[in-house]
Amino acid sequence: MDDSIKFTGLPNPCGVGEYGVKENAKKLLRFLYFHQQLMLIGCGQLPARADWELKQGIGRHAYEDGMAASALRIRITELRTPAHSLGKLSDPLMELFFDELIHVRSDLEFSVLIYGFVKPELLRIYRDYIRKTQQIVDHPTVRMLRPIIWDLEEQTAWGERMIAHLKAKESLDPDQEQYIDYLKDIVQTAGGFDANGDKSFVFPDRRRSHTPYVLPAKSIRDSSMGPSVSYRTGMGIPFDNPDQEALADMMRIRQEEMGAAETIAGVIYSQKGMDWEFYTDLARHLWDEIRHTMLGQAALEAEGYNWRSRPQFVSDYNFVFPKVPAVRYAWLSLGVEEKAMKRPGKVGEYEFCRDVVKHPLMTLFQDYDWADEVVHAQLGRKWTPAMFDENLETIRGIALPLAAEKLDYQQQLKNSRDTNPK
Ligand SMILES: [Fe+2]
Ligand SMILES: [Fe+2]
Repeated sequence: MDDSIKFTGLPNPCGVGEYGVKENAKKLLRFLYFHQQLMLIGCGQLPARADWELKQGIGRHAYEDGMAASALRIRITELRTPAHSLGKLSDPLMELFFDELIHVRSDLEFSVLIYGFVKPELLRIYRDYIRKTQQIVDHPTVRMLRPIIWDLEEQTAWGERMIAHLKAKESLDPDQEQYIDYLKDIVQTAGGFDANGDKSFVFPDRRRSHTPYVLPAKSIRDSSMGPSVSYRTGMGIPFDNPDQEALADMMRIRQEEMGAAETIAGVIYSQKGMDWEFYTDLARHLWDEIRHTMLGQAALEAEGYNWRSRPQFVSDYNFVFPKVPAVRYAWLSLGVEEKAMKRPGKVGEYEFCRDVVKHPLMTLFQDYDWADEVVHAQLGRKWTPAMFDENLETIRGIALPLAAEKLDYQQQLKNSRDTNPK
């Protein structure tokens, strides 16, 4: 018999693996902690980072870290480990590492640490884990880790190119170089991310994490882009007819959904004590809004519009930032997204692209954008009652007037710009 057909093709079936149930659960609890922390750090850093492509990557990877954490949580509870242990780690060095990591101060510092150090290390230790564990008894873990490894492979390959892109436009100062070494030393002191190495009981001092990380009050855009503004500016060029202008405006509004993504990131980072599902639901919401920026960007680029040099709308983050996270999320999910379920709303945008301007790419984009927004409105109805401990009617009474106030504010700014262009 061809031995490779035995055991459904699982390799090394008679080998004694390295990890019993207890050891396995202990390792997976570490991995879970890393992905939960990485998701939160990505969310906390998103509004503060400048590079457009980096911001999009951070949004996608926060979602992927959330998915990794969800898969790990399920597997850990199959390993005689109670649910109340999930998300906790008794390792003061790792706690220090992630407390410090959120305090990175530039796009390059962020990328060198996340994509040049943490993610490649996680990839290495997960591959190592799969090699060492017993293939029959622990196949559920092996299978659970596979998509996480695929994500990490893409993230690190993309991250390497991102680091090269950033190095061409900025550099690390000596303090940042030292900070990166300091963070790497903490991991080494802890025996590595997998704690397989020698652990030394030397506890480095805190450096930047004496005070908690604070989200920026204003979201940042790349200085090579147009200036940040709080009103919509479209493409700012003459059009043959108003429908074509409305189409270009729609593409730009999609492209400018980064503010919505940043708002959700800020809510994920700031809203404490919710069920884990809240964070993964919102991480998906966040990634959807990042994808919506890409819909606009792709449509604009397909038409040859230079959208990067145009002013960049940032009011979706800046206007609601002073509010508590519950109000920020209610504004977006109920004040804007649920409201868009009524005509003309999302269906109107789709029909305009399909029937009026007959634009195949934007018709497809708006079709899916509408589907996504149906989900987002549902998320608002699912989570805001728990955030406020109030009923939906009361919460809509907060969200809708705020949405109207924001639109008035934007209109006033636009009017004053139109009458006073300087
Ligand atoms: Fe959106
Ligand atoms: Fe949305």
